[in-house]
Amino acid sequence: MWARRTHPPPSDRSQAVELVVSADPEEAAAEVARLLVDVATEGGSVVLAGGSTPRRAYELAAAAQPYWGDVDIWFGDERCVPADDPRSNLQLVRESFLKELVVWPRVHPIPIELPAAEAAEAYDAVLQGVKLDLVVLGLGADGHTASLFPEAPALDVVDRLVVEAEAGLEPFVDRVTLTIPALEAGAHVVFLAVGTEKAEPARRAFGEKASRATPASLVRSRLGTTTAILDRAAASLLRPSSS
Ligand code: 6PG
Repeated sequence: MWARRTHPPPSDRSQAVELVVSADPEEAAAEVARLLVDVATEGGSVVLAGGSTPRRAYELAAAAQPYWGDVDIWFGDERCVPADDPRSNLQLVRESFLKELVVWPRVHPIPIELPAAEAAEAYDAVLQGVKLDLVVLGLGADGHTASLFPEAPALDVVDRLVVEAEAGLEPFVDRVTLTIPALEAGAHVVFLAVGTEKAEPARRAFGEKASRATPASLVRSRLGTTTAILDRAAASLLRPSSS
């Protein structure tokens, strides 16, 4: 079993979150796409989010830059479903992004053909020592990010980069997720959330003290900057000076 944090998580994350409020979901997606394209141009490693929100950002990034030969693609989490299952995050990235490219990045799928615990151990091993330039994360309606769900034991893990997890929201399938130490190693951690449904979790994640009840509030880059790219609806409960 993993070693777990014995002390409560930091209650007031000192590092401010840069809020970028876009007019609408399309503009928010374009902001994330620009960050992805920057990595394609400079080379580096990117962690991609799953779910539905980032689809448009991936489409725009592929349209803007077809050459990704100097990029390594990693996954923030994965659902333990077949690779061609519409719930698969790899399938999301394949159909919204990879299939449009002229030169593919090196793609590192989470090996969910293994049992979740073994898949987590295998991905933990290959992720060791990888410098993550950009970590793209989503925000669940319950405040989760990746597959780090409210009050989950995985929130306290300090000695692993990847663990297995139980889903706290649809789809209720076994998950494999990067841990907080893994996500915080990103030089630039970027959250993307749009829509009124994300206003309350965004307020808790980016405008309140860190809490295990809102895992996204616990994830801040340890090496660089943390940005929340929100459309007006998702930012509607945040004061402009929120940090
Ligand atoms: C996943 C994601 C997850 C997602 C949020 C938001 O595998 O489900 O990694 O953390 O980002 O659940 O999902 P939506 O973008 O679909 O709202």
